[in-house]
Amino acid sequence: MKVGVLGGGQLGRMLALAGYPLGLRFRFLDPAPESPVEELAELVVGRFDDLAVLAQFPDGLDVITYEFENVPVEAARHLARSAPVHPSPRALEVSQDRLAEKTLFASLGITPAPFAAVDSFADLEKAVGEVGLPAVLKTRRLGYDGKGQMTIRSAAEVVAAWRGLGGVPLVLEGFVAFERELSQIGVRGRDGDVALYPLVQNHHEGGILRLSIAPAPDVSDQLQEQAGTAVRMVMERLDYVGVLAVEFFQKGGELIANEMAPRVHNSGHWTIEGARTSQFENHLRAVVGWPLGPAEAVGHSAMVNLIGEVPTPPRVLAVPAAHLHLYGKKPRAGRKLGHVTVWAATAAERDEKMARLRGLPGCLV
Ligand SMILES: Nc1ncnc2c1ncn2[C@@H]1O[C@H](COP(=O)(O)OP(=O)(O)O)[C@@H](O)[C@H]1O
Ligand SMILES: [Mg+2]
Repeated sequence: MKVGVLGGGQLGRMLALAGYPLGLRFRFLDPAPESPVEELAELVVGRFDDLAVLAQFPDGLDVITYEFENVPVEAARHLARSAPVHPSPRALEVSQDRLAEKTLFASLGITPAPFAAVDSFADLEKAVGEVGLPAVLKTRRLGYDGKGQMTIRSAAEVVAAWRGLGGVPLVLEGFVAFERELSQIGVRGRDGDVALYPLVQNHHEGGILRLSIAPAPDVSDQLQEQAGTAVRMVMERLDYVGVLAVEFFQKGGELIANEMAPRVHNSGHWTIEGARTSQFENHLRAVVGWPLGPAEAVGHSAMVNLIGEVPTPPRVLAVPAAHLHLYGKKPRAGRKLGHVTVWAATAAERDEKMARLRGLPGCLV
């Protein structure tokens, strides 16, 4: 079986690394000639909207998926005429638009922060009245790692936020004074079978994920059930195939849905060592149409992103049960270059090992 993947970043690289033991082969499409997959799989360098590229790409592929959620929906629809595309172009379309995402959540009874669409300054003033302050103004499309959003703390900041972001479709949402951030990753097979990973606790700084702890500590059965049900409902509504991640804020016993990603997710990297089946393998099993693997956690894991710079391998590997994953990217400030997962039988031991990563280059935890 040969899998086509749109996007050739680290997520694609980890998909290929998970797929080779299953006998899968890969062809990637990415506009950049230098990408994390170049040294390990067939790479077509081309634009996602180049019709000549899109005409040739599916040749010999059994299924097409993506690892980058900003692939143009038209490209996914175009390719779907030649080979099955999973998750569906419809799922991609919803996930690309924060307004569509929040509307979908709300229609399923999954609570988002209060929100309002903003297309003009008048809309923004009205939205501030409805949603209240503080609030976060976000571009509906193309935001990532905290880019494309501004917090409005007082009425005096409304004009500056409009100046900073106005001109493209926006959404204003209430600022959530959350206790913590959690994410729920699920996978749904072509036959509708679903597997759910445990809730993960995430720490962001400056909008970038720094640390994930899995399973998240102090999760009641009821909270886990609520998150799992939410992801299951979204997947069922979209007739979804593949891995889906939903990010939540927790406030009291309540979960507030933030956003979703129609792909393998940074907060699921720990599953490579810390779950019975990794999110990468399960995504592939799903899109190819094979049975899913069990998603339970084994022991306690923590995943630390390496941002901007990387330590030398021996410094990481000196920490017992630390696993290093480098993505083959050139160092640049704020860029995700790799991650480290530490694994332990108990949460206390995991935390002890994690503390030993503190202060290493790129480990900003
Ligand atoms: N409404 C909000 N209230 C409080 N914090 C928020 C809100 N929206 C975003 N954030 C913070 O910014 C981070 C990035 O925002 P998010 O909407 O997930 O965008 P991105 O696509 O960049 O991940 C979140 O993980 C959270 O830490
Ligand atoms: Mg996010």
